[in-house]
Amino acid sequence: MALDYSEKVMDHFSNPRNVGEIENPDGVGEAGNPKCGDIMKIYLRVRDNVIEDVRFKTFGCASAIASSSMATEMIKGKTVDEAWDLTNRAVADALDGLPPIKMHCSVLAEEAIHRALNDYRSKHGLEVLPIEEFDHEHDHCSV
Ligand code: FES
Repeated sequence: MALDYSEKVMDHFSNPRNVGEIENPDGVGEAGNPKCGDIMKIYLRVRDNVIEDVRFKTFGCASAIASSSMATEMIKGKTVDEAWDLTNRAVADALDGLPPIKMHCSVLAEEAIHRALNDYRSKHGLEVLPIEEFDHEHDHCSV
């Protein structure tokens, strides 16, 4: 069955932004999706509390790659606190929606970004923040 992807999903999947790695990143985070085994890794370059550069590597489906691409675009130039507030729902909305059975794929980006931000925070003497447990069965946060 072909899924009904938005033009934005197809654009970010075919031409993903910010793919790659950052050497000696200020923060790095990884998230895996227990539903399918896909993995996303994110690298941050932070200057004066602002995300100056961000790169990702995603071994996953079209929705995961498009979500990673859009999420990196959305946190670039933001402060580390602003970036923390990015939700998978906001990423999916910015992509003009994801098919309901693909919403769980967008969670990879949110989780990997949170882990990368916490890595940055722990290296800079900042409080490490709790990462919300995601309900992968029902595609929403359980808290
Ligand atoms: Fe694995 Fe989409 S099916 S992240």
